[in-house]
Amino acid sequence: MTPLNPLIQRRTFLLAGGALMLGACSKSSDSSSSATTNSVAANTSVATEGYNTLWIPPTLTGTTFDLSVATTTKQLHDGAATPTIGYNGAEFWGPTLIMQKGASVQLNVTNKLDEETTTHWHGFHIPAEMDGGPHQTIAAGATWSPSFEVKNNAATFWYHPHMHEKTWTQMNQGAGGFIIVQDDTEAALALPRTYGVDDIPLMLTSRTFSSSNEFVLTTVTPYGDEMLTNGTLKAEVGLPAQMVRFRILNAEIERVYDLGFSDNRTFHVIGTDGGLLNAPVPVTTLIIAPGERYEIVVDLTADAVGASLTMQAFNGGHPFGFPGGEDAASGEVFGSSLNNTTFDVLHINVIAAISGAVTALPTELVANTLWTAADATSKRTIAITDTGPGSPFTFDDAGYSMDTINQTVTLDTVEQWSINNGKIFSHSFHMHDVQFSIVSRSTGEVAEYEKGWKDTFSIFIGESVSFVAKFDDFASTEHPFMYHCHMANHEDEGLMGQFLVVPA
Ligand code: C2O
Ligand code: CU
Repeated sequence: MTPLNPLIQRRTFLLAGGALMLGACSKSSDSSSSATTNSVAANTSVATEGYNTLWIPPTLTGTTFDLSVATTTKQLHDGAATPTIGYNGAEFWGPTLIMQKGASVQLNVTNKLDEETTTHWHGFHIPAEMDGGPHQTIAAGATWSPSFEVKNNAATFWYHPHMHEKTWTQMNQGAGGFIIVQDDTEAALALPRTYGVDDIPLMLTSRTFSSSNEFVLTTVTPYGDEMLTNGTLKAEVGLPAQMVRFRILNAEIERVYDLGFSDNRTFHVIGTDGGLLNAPVPVTTLIIAPGERYEIVVDLTADAVGASLTMQAFNGGHPFGFPGGEDAASGEVFGSSLNNTTFDVLHINVIAAISGAVTALPTELVANTLWTAADATSKRTIAITDTGPGSPFTFDDAGYSMDTINQTVTLDTVEQWSINNGKIFSHSFHMHDVQFSIVSRSTGEVAEYEKGWKDTFSIFIGESVSFVAKFDDFASTEHPFMYHCHMANHEDEGLMGQFLVVPA
């Protein structure tokens, strides 16, 4: 092997313990169904040879959501089908849950895997015991039934396994799904919202395949060689010549995306993790880290029917520390054929506009009053550390322990948290329970498109990021919430802590 960049070499020490290849999963059939399942009949079929039609997850609506998670397979390449995990019979991923703000919802999650799992409602402001973190385990064969009021604003959330030391493998197999929260404020705006037609959920991830078509999962390859957009390889979608909304989720293990379009067109960011922005923000590229969501609107009104364009990741040429920017080829340490290059995320064919199409974007959206640094009455600082060669990333030199409460917050306090990253690599910081506002980045200005409600953010090498949140509504002296890196390999290796919100 040629000499590695010292920083990459440092990272390779983290690989002690060797590579792990997932074995074949047993196949099981899942016959669960729900009266409220709606399959999506979008006119999205493929027009271009060599592409596959983008899978649009079916939706579940109402107030009772029955989910079951099981191993299955998906035919992704010629030859053997790939062993996967899906919810409710999906061959990769799961149905989209559509919830109304203010509704009381009941979820019943049945674990048909042959191992424990959990199901976490990422981004939701709910009691810790309903959160689906590592403490709310669901034994094989068991059903977990949390219930809560939907208090979040209209936005795009997601659910996924959060079983400590199993999150990486279960997510790598495809387990996850979208949650769309709707509310009256969003509904009053002239925005595209016909699911699967002009309002497209877009889950971005990538995988490397073994010679027998299994997903490879090793500590040396957190980056996939092939793009899976909603679980579809070489995805293509037909979109009407009008304003089109994408609800983009980075569901990667470690890769960050620098997203844009092949013709470098301007598009608008309209929403962050936890809600709409005050006004659309024009951009030509957008950085999205694992766990983050952005809603964007792309103007196709001037595109000719029959024309095509491509959403791409401009992941080449970033400084070291950009996850997926490593100059390492497929099979090499931290390598991938998608590293340090521009690659296609979604091929788009423009089709005729639908009647009642949205053809202009509102200039104002909502009136968020985001927390500022001046609002914080309490401050704490957390360092992302590594305890030496061969050791994983940690917070404040301590790996995650189920039995240790790392932070204690008093109910109703507005706090500023500052996360200081070390010098080894970049991360994606996520906190449960609250939506916060990012108030500073040591590397420069907070991007305009980040100035909304957030629960996850990218933090680059050597960077310090501060955010402010109010820890309201839910207190417990017993049940903690998590904060962690949303790179599932880092999380499983211990870059996670937990906090209690205790009564005042
Ligand atoms: Cu998306 Cu702690 O999770
Ligand atoms: Cu990390």
